[in-house]
Amino acid sequence: MKFFIDTANLAQIKEAKDLGILDGVTTNPSLMAKEGIVGTENVMAHYKAICEIVGKGDVSAEVISTDFDGMIAEGKVLAAINPNIVVKVPMIKDGIKAISWFTAKGIRTNCTLVFSAGQAILAAKAGATYLSPFVGRLDDISWDGMDLIAQIAHIYQTQNYKTEILAASVRNPLHIVKSAECGAHVVTCPLDAILGLLNHPLTDIGLAKFLADHKKANG
Ligand code: G3P
Repeated sequence: MKFFIDTANLAQIKEAKDLGILDGVTTNPSLMAKEGIVGTENVMAHYKAICEIVGKGDVSAEVISTDFDGMIAEGKVLAAINPNIVVKVPMIKDGIKAISWFTAKGIRTNCTLVFSAGQAILAAKAGATYLSPFVGRLDDISWDGMDLIAQIAHIYQTQNYKTEILAASVRNPLHIVKSAECGAHVVTCPLDAILGLLNHPLTDIGLAKFLADHKKANG
């Protein structure tokens, strides 16, 4: 399973990259706004900076338009920033049309705001490179986000769809573990969730004992 970081914060992207486990980055308009990145030129420059930090990995850049022509125009500009840019398109009717268009032109896409298996089938039919089911936002309304990941994984395997399942709105270490278990190809989450995977009290206790024994023996 690939690890993407879900942020537009350059310091956090760099920290994940330095860990040696970073496969890519996802952003969205809310994450860009959170970093204070406004205006087309600044947004483009920021995507460029993200791509430079990530190196080989994919970087999802989301369109703001909700109509077909607007999405195509924006997507072309975004895709021209760097070969690793993946155009992120919302799961709406014009979005599906745009994904089909981008697919035919060899531009890779990430279909976002996915909450059902039906939407997942449509995105795969349109040729989306990645599909982003929002696990945490389903959990927020008492649906089980992981059930959806498992259902889509089963469908994609049965139908031999090539679209990769990118578990999104992943907020904690358990979401990451469950995504791996349910067959997600990629998980995208904040840095905290990734670092949370490190934690186990027995690791801390064991390390303290090793170091104490070494000190006792060696002075
Ligand atoms: O990748 C989508 C993600 O950014 C949404 O996460 O936590 O806002 O639901 P969240």
